[in-house]
Amino acid sequence: MKRYLVTGGAGFIGSNYIHYLLQKYGNEVHITNLDKLTYAGNLENLSAIEKESNYRFIKGDICDKDLVATLMPDIDIVVNFAAESHVDRSIGSPDDFIQTDVYGAFVLLEAARKSGVGKFIQISTDEVYGSILKGSFKETDVLEPSSPYSASKAGADRLAYSYYKTYGLPVVITRCSNNYGPYQYPEKLIPLFVTNAIEDKSLPIYGDGKNVRDWIYVVDHCDAIDFLISRGEDGEVYNVGGGNEMTNLDITDLILQELGKPASLKTFIADRLGHDRRYSVETEKIQQLGWQPSFSFVEAIKSTIQWYRENTAWWEKIKTGEYLEYYKSHYQHV
Ligand code: NAD
Ligand code: DAU
Repeated sequence: MKRYLVTGGAGFIGSNYIHYLLQKYGNEVHITNLDKLTYAGNLENLSAIEKESNYRFIKGDICDKDLVATLMPDIDIVVNFAAESHVDRSIGSPDDFIQTDVYGAFVLLEAARKSGVGKFIQISTDEVYGSILKGSFKETDVLEPSSPYSASKAGADRLAYSYYKTYGLPVVITRCSNNYGPYQYPEKLIPLFVTNAIEDKSLPIYGDGKNVRDWIYVVDHCDAIDFLISRGEDGEVYNVGGGNEMTNLDITDLILQELGKPASLKTFIADRLGHDRRYSVETEKIQQLGWQPSFSFVEAIKSTIQWYRENTAWWEKIKTGEYLEYYKSHYQHV
């Protein structure tokens, strides 16, 4: 039995990953989910599996050295999702990003080194490269992160590499593009626009809406991580992408069309500070190993939109309290 420490498992990708592991491996895995339950952590994402005997939840901070040290000796594989993950929040208030994304990764790496875990997966991001107008970034390209979020992720990415190079910790680093799917906190483009459109609220498009992102279905990202745990080489970085680049305007139009809502909901607002124009990663390296995404964007985006339609209770509960305060202050001119 493989014993996993999944950090940030109550968030969007982490919770999808826990579902993925349990569906694929059943009792062959034991999962410890360590999550601080920040505004983005939501145990409802895991209610269907919370009573499984091979799953346990621990509420705690990855920056807590003592706690992490007590958990690590029982672990074979660490998958570090825990992070502050929203670019806009990092622009308004970078502190927690430096603390969790960089220092928290250090605490995990140090404990993993001391107890000799079998594999450490650092979930990095394609944002560490910065923006690219033409072509696509390779794993060997220079990192030029633009936001406090992506800069802190770049710090953790390279720190993880240093634990491989210096101490021989079996680290694999993934740099994935924009995920979409169920359980994504409705501050990110797709769930924000889908839920706002359902509520007939405006869709706040930054700048001219022509920024480009590559979209990957979250289950494909989970599958790539699983693939790399067995097939990735230690010390290596792997780009992961959906091969599906779209402008924000294309995404907005698609959402409105799918929900049968009017174009008048589109509202252009001031641009994000330091807004990266385009992200694009070359995925030849992971493809050479034998992995590629299996979900079609056309199908998966429809089922994602349908999921938010059918699970209004999940996001209506979120869109209160702290969320509303953030929303009002961030989108004050909408
Ligand atoms: P999320 O914000 O939905 O979830 C983050 C989770 O981490 C939450 O459950 C939160 O409670 C937890 N957390 C935050 N600080 C913590 C701490 N100090 N200790 C323990 N838990 C803590 O994020 P997400 O979108 O699921 O992203 C997960 C990871 O994947 C992040 O590392 C992010 O950088 C990376 N990533 C995300 C995307 C994307 O498109 N969402 C793409 C590539 C990489
Ligand atoms: O590329 C991977 C990254 O994708 C991850 O590392 C991050 O954790 C994740 O948040 C995401 O970052 P982005 O900044 O690309 O995602 P976001 O959903 O915030 O924005 C997507 C695009 O939509 C971006 O160009 C900004 C734009 N946008 C976003 C919001 C929230 C708007 O136009 N209006 C909005 O209200």
